[in-house]
Amino acid sequence: MNMKQSVIALSIALAAPISQAGEVEVLHWWTSGGEAKSIGVLKDMLEDQGHSWKDFAVAGGGGESAMTVLKTRAVSGNPPSAAQIKGHDIQEWGELGFLTDLDGVASAEKWDAMLPSVVSEVMKHDGKYVAVPVNVHRVNWLWANPEVFEKAGAAVPNSIEGFFAAAEKIKAAGLIPLAHGGQPWQDATLFEAIALDVLGSEGYNKAFVEHDLEVLGGEKMVETFEIFKRMRSYIDENSPGRDWNIATSMVINGEAAMQVMGDWAKGEFAAAGKKAGEDFICAPAFGTADQFTFNIDSFAFFKIKEGDNVTAQKNLASTILTKDFQEVFNLNKGSIPVRLDMSMSAFDSCATAAMDSFKATAESGDLVPSMAHGMSTTSYVQGAIFDVVTNYFNDDNANPNEAVDKLVRAVKSAL
Ligand code: BGC
Repeated sequence: MNMKQSVIALSIALAAPISQAGEVEVLHWWTSGGEAKSIGVLKDMLEDQGHSWKDFAVAGGGGESAMTVLKTRAVSGNPPSAAQIKGHDIQEWGELGFLTDLDGVASAEKWDAMLPSVVSEVMKHDGKYVAVPVNVHRVNWLWANPEVFEKAGAAVPNSIEGFFAAAEKIKAAGLIPLAHGGQPWQDATLFEAIALDVLGSEGYNKAFVEHDLEVLGGEKMVETFEIFKRMRSYIDENSPGRDWNIATSMVINGEAAMQVMGDWAKGEFAAAGKKAGEDFICAPAFGTADQFTFNIDSFAFFKIKEGDNVTAQKNLASTILTKDFQEVFNLNKGSIPVRLDMSMSAFDSCATAAMDSFKATAESGDLVPSMAHGMSTTSYVQGAIFDVVTNYFNDDNANPNEAVDKLVRAVKSAL
């Protein structure tokens, strides 16, 4: 190589990474131990590609605070590259014209063939991909500490009545039966697990997807509210305002016996070095073994200024659906991969059970969208349901018949 050639070669070598390196700013609410580890995987993979990562974490389970902060940023004309936005909200942001079209990456990498249609439909606005799914969480889970059950001489329940029988024994043994955080989204998570069992999958869909006022105001809904209130007496008095991961830690350290929570709770057990089937047990919540309430996390991508940051943004989109990322991320997060063509050999018994159930319920019609996690309806209807559910749960004198009337009125006015 002569001098001129080596100068050219050197300048290409130096220029290549620099001209492609961009920055991604990513808004999310993954701040608990297991969650932070999971999002860290994405950060590392982006940095390995030469990009820089600007973390925009807004604490608060369920993401309500994150969504408020995102609105302020977007409206002031300075959106992040990507934000954790799920379900119906993707459509709302798409309608407002904020989201960018990812179809170039999607068709090159054949996302349509890779993803189940129940997932890809949610990621598209006007027929074009504007968001990328990260995982599938099962929400209708019950997490149990087997040592606590043993101490109390109780069995891990697989029905609502079984729950009450076990809870009585655990309470009598001086332990907390149900670890719970008194926040509207956590109340709604417990409520929807009871509703799934009492209403059945069809009734659940009628209530929370179709907003059938007869089902929302019917006998079974009254029963759901009654059971929900009975559970309150098995929760300790410090629950108001408690974060979900603090509730999980109560199960981990044996202070409480169970928690009803999506499988992000497993991320906390995993981060604490606990093993599924040994240190903790995952069981479908109450009687919902043949049903699956899904919650799909996704990142929506915003329109940003042309340049290297757009390259970084596209790389981020494509990294999320690689098999490598799907495996490591979901092992940490407690969820299952959103790609159905992956080996589950590295995953534990809870994740393989979730994957089997995800596939089986997609066939049987028992795969239903989570209301509490923004999958079944708009944020307006969801907010209206949350208010009724939480106010009822926290009012000792609340009446289930009145709660159901309020629910009907609230949903009607939010439609
Ligand atoms: C999200 C999960 C998250 C959980 C608690 C849910 O709405 O889908 O990814 O771990 O909230 O923050």
